[in-house]
Amino acid sequence: MNQTIDTLLNHRSIRQFKNTKLTDEQLDYIIRSAQQASTSSYMMAYTIIGITDAEKKAALAEVSGQPYVKDNGHLLVFCADLHRQTHSATSEDYNQMVDNLENSEHFLVSAIDAALAAQNAAIAAESMGLGICYLGSLRNHLERVDELLALPTHVIPLFGMAIGEPAHQPERKPRLPKSAIYFENEYQPHDDAIQTFDDQIAEYYQSRSSNNRSDTWTDQMHRRFKKTMRMDVTDLVQKKGFNKR
Ligand SMILES: Cc1cc2nc3c(=O)[nH]c(=O)nc-3n(C[C@H](O)[C@H](O)[C@H](O)COP(=O)(O)O)c2cc1C
Repeated sequence: MNQTIDTLLNHRSIRQFKNTKLTDEQLDYIIRSAQQASTSSYMMAYTIIGITDAEKKAALAEVSGQPYVKDNGHLLVFCADLHRQTHSATSEDYNQMVDNLENSEHFLVSAIDAALAAQNAAIAAESMGLGICYLGSLRNHLERVDELLALPTHVIPLFGMAIGEPAHQPERKPRLPKSAIYFENEYQPHDDAIQTFDDQIAEYYQSRSSNNRSDTWTDQMHRRFKKTMRMDVTDLVQKKGFNKR
């Protein structure tokens, strides 16, 4: 179709990287692409922290429990950030702003802004032949990550992104059929589409070249949602002044 669509359709997460650091030029394109993402009401309500300190990187890898957090070409942490909105605010200004700073609306706004910037970064990296892996695993111990990055009030870490030269080429992971996620005009029943996908994904899990197993998407989702996880996230989010009202 065109190169952009090819890049998008070729995505797969990369979890083994060559020992090659990103060049300054590559990083510059990645960050500038992230910055050019659409942003709600021009808020630019996110911060990206690149981890160059080996000890911090090791500490983040420990939080995540995943080796590719340490072994990659570069590690970025994407944060929701409403701190800049309070720049130069007097205490009177702040008191008038605090309802908005602390409400669910602006928690969502900042998380969405960060995610859009991150996905632009991912596409930029992939368009240059690099691989990426998002890292929600940094939320295994959000408070520790918050401390390591010295984040002020109204800034919280959301997820990381490992970037680098791919050292493996995993198969592309199938997605739900379009009929399960795209509807016209209103929400539609799509149980059949999920069933078809479960059959397809069972085959994928059985035949893929690594980590093959007997599983379906539905079973995977039920298992995941039955096991409570990261229940401490709410505390940190609210402690940092997000999603309180
Ligand atoms: C916000 C977010 C967080 C993620 N966190 C992790 C993670 O901590 N570790 C990991 O190995 N993959 C992580 N992933 C990657 C997903 O597992 C992956 O995108 C999904 O299984 C689909 O596979 P694919 O990207 O290879 O197509 C994350 C993806 C997203 C969008």
